[in-house]
Amino acid sequence: MAGLSERSFLRRLAGSEALRAALVAAALLLGFAAARGSLDGGWIAAGLAAAAAGALLGRWREPPASVPVAAPEESLAAADTLLANIPDPVIMVDRRALVRLANEAARELLPALRLDHPLSFYLRAPDVLDGIEAVARTGAPTKVEYEERVPAQRSFEVQISPVRGTASDVTRDGVVLFFRDQTSARRLEHMRVDFVANASHELRTPLASLLGFIETLQGPARGDAAARERFLEIMRAQAQRMTRLIEDLLSLSRIELRAHVPPEGPIDLKPVAAQMIDTMGPLAREHGVDIAFSAPEGRLMVVGDRDELLRVVENLIENAVKYGGTGKRIEVALARTEPAHARAAEVELTVRDHGPGIAPEHLPRLTERFYRADVVESRQKGGTGLGLAIVKHIVARHRGRMTIESELGKGAVFRVTLPALSGSDPRGNA
Ligand SMILES: Nc1ncnc2c1ncn2[C@@H]1O[C@H](COP(=O)(O)OP(=O)(O)O)[C@@H](O)[C@H]1O
Ligand SMILES: [Mg+2]
Repeated sequence: MAGLSERSFLRRLAGSEALRAALVAAALLLGFAAARGSLDGGWIAAGLAAAAAGALLGRWREPPASVPVAAPEESLAAADTLLANIPDPVIMVDRRALVRLANEAARELLPALRLDHPLSFYLRAPDVLDGIEAVARTGAPTKVEYEERVPAQRSFEVQISPVRGTASDVTRDGVVLFFRDQTSARRLEHMRVDFVANASHELRTPLASLLGFIETLQGPARGDAAARERFLEIMRAQAQRMTRLIEDLLSLSRIELRAHVPPEGPIDLKPVAAQMIDTMGPLAREHGVDIAFSAPEGRLMVVGDRDELLRVVENLIENAVKYGGTGKRIEVALARTEPAHARAAEVELTVRDHGPGIAPEHLPRLTERFYRADVVESRQKGGTGLGLAIVKHIVARHRGRMTIESELGKGAVFRVTLPALSGSDPRGNA
């Protein structure tokens, strides 16, 4: 329906191909600017778009003989294709804010949209409508925000630019609206703000306690040797906690920096796991926990970064000891999965404990930064809430995946699966 009336509208208007071509040019320019993501680019593009539209309209009135002009049907089809392929919503309205053109993306955004009807029927956004009115009146492009809440929260930046007809026929003047989806940018911004707030909070707590003890030692407890010893010990623990936090934050940002650079070296996972189990020996003994290790014969080669893979094993074993230590034993296992149809071979690391387990509501959120099932317990045990976030990022960089299975009272299983390096020899002579 909409397509048909759009066509008849175009046919009614003599030379409407040129108008449409102008719109496409305008939209494309805006699109390129949007793709580059620069604010200035957007504004320059808006100006360019308006200029291009005006120029094309002018040319349609008096085509210079030297410029090759495509057949009307041909250019209409090309313009249609171009407009349809612009991924962002583009809408053109006339001076009275009646919808004149809308591309596929615009129809997806506003499914009820009908041509020749006022845009205000479909878009209840006073800022946008005021913007159109202002642009039609002043001829100066503008930019406004548009938020959609139903069916999902989405935010757009709408660039509103004038499209000029000709001096002799101002009825062809219009306004083009170009919607830029800012939803994911806003979400990222939110995450960044949350992250900074969380990190500052985590640092402020031990810092406040350090300051408190320092003031006590300078004041009321000045001459108290026993209190001094006790306080210094607490202060050391708090300072260590801040150091751990900074170290975790730094490694998280290092891993993120390299997120899109795949790791290089061929690594045998077996010695990596064995080395970390040795390193964790003292902590395990301190908690009265026994670590069992099993792996198949031969090497288990993956393409990986040795240090990062050590961090993965370290975090998983440390968590199993600290949070699942009451189960008294931990099983660390490596396995090779044989390639099934169309699936590449994989190497699997599992760390299983027999502790209290994790309630189901926490499972999906455990790998979020600073998320802990029990904040007090994590702090007491020297946790930062960043361990599993680090593991998740490392695993993602290695093109692997991690799953967590747990049931309250039945321990937990953390499973990391990495693509096996082809040529990994099951018999061990690779
Ligand atoms: N094996 C486990 N058993 C029970 N809970 C666990 C286990 N591993 C992790 N958790 C929970 O997941 C949370 C997040 O772990 P992590 O990201 O390593 O942070 P941290 O250990 O610094 O608190 C922990 O605080 C704990 O609540
Ligand atoms: Mg941890």
